[in-house]
This record gives sequence, C-alpha cells and structure tokens, in this order.
Amino acid sequence: GLGGRKVNVLVVGLDNSGKTTTIERLKPRSKQSVEVAPTVGFNVDEFQKGGLEFTVFDMSGAGRYRSLWEQYYPEAQAVIFVIDSADKLRLVVARDELDTMLAHPMLGRSVPLLFLANKSDLPTALAAVEIAQALRLEEIRVHPWQIVASNALTGEGLDRGVEWLAGKLL
Ligand code: GTP
Ligand code: MG
Repeated sequence: GLGGRKVNVLVVGLDNSGKTTTIERLKPRSKQSVEVAPTVGFNVDEFQKGGLEFTVFDMSGAGRYRSLWEQYYPEAQAVIFVIDSADKLRLVVARDELDTMLAHPMLGRSVPLLFLANKSDLPTALAAVEIAQALRLEEIRVHPWQIVASNALTGEGLDRGVEWLAGKLL
C-alpha cells in the first residue's frame, strides 16, 4: 500500500494507561473512534507513519488479560509500552510487567521499545525522566529504547515517538 513496508507493533502497558486512545490518535481523523472503551482481550488496528505501515496489536492491560501479551512477542518488530504518568501507585506494577516482558525468551533482542509517559497533561503527572527512573530503563542493554512524554487526547508527543520508532525500523 501507500504506507510502505509493513511492521508489527505490540502495544502494552497497564489498563487505563491510554494504549487504545494513543492508537486512535495515530490514525487519520476520518478513521478515529469517538469513544474508547477498555479493551477486552486485544484488538488489531493499523496506521501509517514515517514511511511505514504499522499493524498494531492493542492489548488489554487488565490483569486477567496480561498473559496474552506474550503470544505476540514472536511477531513483534517493535513494542510501544504506555504508562499513565499520574498513576504513581502502580508504577511498580508496570515495572514488574516490563521486567517480565524483557526476560521473556520470545521477545526479539533487537526489538526497539518506545515508552510513552502518557497523560502528561494531568497536574500530578511525573516527568518522563522520573518514569524512566522508576522503571529502571537505564538498565536495558539489548534493546534500543526511548521515552517520550505524551498526551493521547491531543496527540502531543506521539509523532515524535513513532518517528523515533520508524527510524529504528528502516
Ligand atoms: P485497557 O484497554 O483497559 O488496557 O486501557 P487502555 O490503556 O487502552 O486505556 P484507554 O485508551 O482506554 O484510556 C483510558 C482512559 O484514559 C480513557 O478515559 C482515556 O480518555 C484516558 N486517557 C488516555 N490518554 C490520556 C491522556 O494523555 N491524558 C488524559 N488526561 N487522559 C487520557
Ligand atoms: Mg485499550
């Protein structure tokens, strides 16, 4: 298609972090859903950015569905990990889920990881550097990674993040 080469992106993170809202905002306006509801299981979607055609696996972040994430590790050419920057109490849970993912043998070693410090518009949101510290991102050695503050409601930060990802995939 017009979007160029196809790449599979896995979108994970805790429930309510803003994964589905992020993906909606990355789609052309005419294809965006008005209402976003909590994801049940997962959804497959697509958008085009940076000369690539992204097929996105939008996983549910709810506890009972998190075991589904690993089913898509073998196909994932990139991962977007979304964090609610204002959800300080669950940062440790997000870190545990990240550590579990990073230790999984089916996740490709060179797969780039884009972290979105989402909901940066909320007054109590932590800065991206603080999220990076809480998740111990500096300890990630094998994967290229980047963290970008985002607001999925306005789209702020999303293009910058996805362009970084596209640069790692070209
Ligand atoms: P699950 O599908 O349950 O895993 O959640 P999700 O990560 O897909 O979250 P979803 O996109 O459904 O968003 C959850 C709620 O957060 C919704 O009410 C969104 O409108 C809201 N939200 C998402 N991104 C932002 C943001 O950047 N800022 C603010 N203020 N709210 C956001
Ligand atoms: Mg969702």
